[in-house]
Amino acid sequence: MSIRAPAVPTSPSRSSLVARAFGVLGDPVGHSRSPAMHGAAFEALGLPHRYFAFHVTPAALPAALAGARALGLGGLNLTVPHKRAAVPSMDELTPAAARIGAVNAVCIEDGRLRGDNTDGVGFLAGLRELGDAVPRRAVVLGSGGAARAVVDALVHEAGAQVRWVSRRPATLPTGPWTSVGYPELAAWLPWADLLVQATTVGMHGGPTAFPVAVEVQRLPAEARVVDLVYPAPAVGLLADAADRGLPTQDGRPMLLWQGVRALEQWLAMSLSPEVVQAMRDAIT
Ligand SMILES: NC(=O)c1ccc[n+]([C@@H]2O[C@H](COP(=O)([O-])OP(=O)(O)OC[C@H]3O[C@@H](n4cnc5c(N)ncnc54)[C@H](OP(=O)(O)O)[C@@H]3O)[C@@H](O)[C@H]2O)c1
Repeated sequence: MSIRAPAVPTSPSRSSLVARAFGVLGDPVGHSRSPAMHGAAFEALGLPHRYFAFHVTPAALPAALAGARALGLGGLNLTVPHKRAAVPSMDELTPAAARIGAVNAVCIEDGRLRGDNTDGVGFLAGLRELGDAVPRRAVVLGSGGAARAVVDALVHEAGAQVRWVSRRPATLPTGPWTSVGYPELAAWLPWADLLVQATTVGMHGGPTAFPVAVEVQRLPAEARVVDLVYPAPAVGLLADAADRGLPTQDGRPMLLWQGVRALEQWLAMSLSPEVVQAMRDAIT
């Protein structure tokens, strides 16, 4: 007897044809590309929904989430600085959100808030655009929310070994990875088949240099290099890696796929390649 997986709809249900409001909460939030990305998806799907950027200060976050629950919003994204702070306001967390200790996507069903973290699975989906190989040995720079989601996905979804690099490695959470300081980075690069830059270095208005030079020439010839900052700065890590002929990617594929995975939950359907392309075009 064969067991068939339940079919996931690829077109909106009748109930999802009623206009609903979605949004992202952040402080600041004006830079967010999520409204354009999700708006493009709704248009491609022929849905009347709207997606808004809400400027919410940290002090107002609990009230904003309670309001979303009361209003029955279709779904929410959370961005800086709310991903960790929102955890206590959730009625329920997915396993990934509980492990990471941060929420970037909220499902609102029957007045309950379910906090998920789609950053990690979004990262892995984006990485597949850079090659099919499953990462086995990854070096991850940074200890913020993005790095935590990436390390969680690499360990728990991909089964990779991880060397996790921070300026203060003693402050990293303990788990099935090895915490490493920048002085040890050069020694681990020849070991890695994946380097992920998940710090704010190179971000608009962020720091411009790492504590030590990241010597991409030490990486193996087949290693992939991903910088979560988007768009990638013209000079720096990704440019150096590309000069060396390594496959490189900036943060846009992760941004795209974390959004796709969130929207699929909110709409209870699988998004077609055409809808995903419309979302990609909106953030390119
Ligand atoms: N593509 C996407 O979808 C996506 C999603 C989320 C975030 N991001 C990007 O990922 C980056 C990190 O975001 P986040 O939310 O994790 O930020 P965050 O929580 O502020 O963490 C940033 C980390 O950067 C490290 N850092 C800061 N200054 C540094 C320096 N001079 N040298 C080395 N490390 C430094 C710090 O790690 P240590 O103190 O441990 O060294 C810190 O934990 C940002 O550029 C953000 O735009 C992209």
